[in-house]
Amino acid sequence: MSRIVLGVSGGIAAYKACLLLRLFTEAGHDVHVVPTQNALQFVGETTWAALSGKPVHTSVMPEAHLVNHVRLGREADLVVVAPATADLIARAASGRADDLLTNVLLTATCPVVLAPAMHTEMWLHAATQANVNLLRSRGVVVLEPAVGRLTGADSGPGRLPEPEDIEASALAALADAGAAAAMASQDLAGRRVLVSAGGTREPLDPVRFVGNNSSGLMGVALARAAVQRGAEVTLVGANLAAEPPAAVHVVTVVSTDDLATAMAAEAGSADIVVMAAAPADFTPVSPSATKLKKSGDAGLTVEFRQTTDVLAGLVASRPPKQVVIGFAAETASDEAELIALGTTKLARRGCQLLVLNNVSGGAVFGAPDNHVLLLGPDGVLGRSAGTKTTVAHAILDAAITVKEGKSA
Ligand code: CTP
Repeated sequence: MSRIVLGVSGGIAAYKACLLLRLFTEAGHDVHVVPTQNALQFVGETTWAALSGKPVHTSVMPEAHLVNHVRLGREADLVVVAPATADLIARAASGRADDLLTNVLLTATCPVVLAPAMHTEMWLHAATQANVNLLRSRGVVVLEPAVGRLTGADSGPGRLPEPEDIEASALAALADAGAAAAMASQDLAGRRVLVSAGGTREPLDPVRFVGNNSSGLMGVALARAAVQRGAEVTLVGANLAAEPPAAVHVVTVVSTDDLATAMAAEAGSADIVVMAAAPADFTPVSPSATKLKKSGDAGLTVEFRQTTDVLAGLVASRPPKQVVIGFAAETASDEAELIALGTTKLARRGCQLLVLNNVSGGAVFGAPDNHVLLLGPDGVLGRSAGTKTTVAHAILDAAITVKEGKSA
């Protein structure tokens, strides 16, 4: 259980912070809400107190004996401000301490995540952008606002990101200092990342298919991590069990052939391509156009052919400097054997990075955690174990290392 300070500044999106608060408390965290005076115009103190189950701190003065202006920030494991208005961002950037929330921001030594919400003009204004860049240069995670409907009839960048997406970014920053630094620096800004995820389904007839256990969780975590680091992300998803973040452009596919077509169409302009999907290796030669019927006691024999090798196609048409990442699940008795198997596979597949999973201790399908070894052409680039979000950030770190030609 972590101690989270949820700051709320005065914007209409304050009501969405109620949902964020709920997500944090349901995940077992201890949440202290610090609304600004203007935020209280939108959502009242009673709501925050009821939802957090704690007294709400609204100003420095009345409880001066509790030294809240220093204590809350110092004791926090994570500070999240949602919504962060243009004014709050400006006050945070200039180090003001004119209310309790800005005092918290000045005293916090933990990760700080700001989720901006404002009209497009205010977000794009040079003053706001300069403030955001300054905060990011100091290690503050400032999320990109979502694009969509704003308070009035207008639409554009400036919408508060969805509470689930703020929660995911905030918990990633809380769990992993490296991920927090990468999100703050937006090290994938201006980059295009293409990820495939999920397990394909190969049709036997109009109602049946041959599939596999891949949930797509790792690929969705990769897409999310790339968005958190500022990339423009396309996810080619086959039968996903998880919801991708709103900022991701999703192309939905079913079979390996669909996946191959979609990846080929999207890969050309990508800087990083991640083949996290589990495409079927075989597909029925001639799926039945009508539903297969039982006939007496007879069984069923289906002839399969090999599917398109998507990764091979991507490697063959790879533009210079593009990093193509393959995944491999191996059953190895120790790390040396895993590295040996991976090295052979990397050379055979011709990709720039291989994410190696040792599945001999049990499958990782559908599990929230993962443990991988990252292998580049010059050897082991890193190891990562933890949530799929943590592993996703480690994979992107390795991809950046390869892209910048810094691998050993
Ligand atoms: N892959 C692909 N197209 C396929 C099958 C797999 O692009 N039709 C990709 C997967 O997304 C993964 C990688 O290939 O990134 C896995 O490599 P592969 O050599 O197929 O590994 P295994 O399936 O483990 O193969 P083997 O059983 O031969 O070790």
